[in-house]
Amino acid sequence: MVMMLVVYDSRTGNTEKAALLVAEGIRRVKDVDCAVKKVDDVILDDLLRADGIIVGSPTYYGGMSAKIKALIDESVKIHGKLEGKVGAAFTTSGGTATGAETTLLSILQALLIHGMIVKGNPEDKHYGLAIVGAPESEEDKELCREFGFTVANLTSKISGNK
Ligand SMILES: Cc1cc2nc3c(=O)[nH]c(=O)nc-3n(C[C@H](O)[C@H](O)[C@H](O)COP(=O)(O)O)c2cc1C
Repeated sequence: MVMMLVVYDSRTGNTEKAALLVAEGIRRVKDVDCAVKKVDDVILDDLLRADGIIVGSPTYYGGMSAKIKALIDESVKIHGKLEGKVGAAFTTSGGTATGAETTLLSILQALLIHGMIVKGNPEDKHYGLAIVGAPESEEDKELCREFGFTVANLTSKISGNK
């Protein structure tokens, strides 16, 4: 069974709503299991157990939240052990082109330093999923699900179903 972890931070609920929808999309992939955890509840073992890790953060001044950064900094204790896992990032922000992309890139940078496999999207939302506010419209909800599905599908292909 391929294992996905969605780890997210959320103060006012927008990123949490996105995280739950991303997980719905992940569960559309056969033989893939998924844990969705708030960053406060994540331990390093959760990262080690997952074949694919999707990190979600609110956009704070064009970067990830302090709690997500703290988890990434703590992950230095397992540096080298996340190599080859699939990684992806999503964010919710207050506006369009107000720091969402830099937030995604700040997360992806860390995942790449860990040696994780990150896939871009040539069509839209090139760096990952970005939602303005909460995903309320059916279009935004489906974007979240589609994002989860795509990352889980890639993880399943790369890590092979065990
Ligand atoms: C400290 C702080 C900094 C923020 N900085 C930005 C920003 O740079 N750009 C932006 O578009 N929104 C910014 N926002 C708005 C949040 O990114 C947005 O409301 C987000 O959806 C909140 O996610 P949450 O509901 O999961 O906590 C900021 C909010 C806070 C509290």
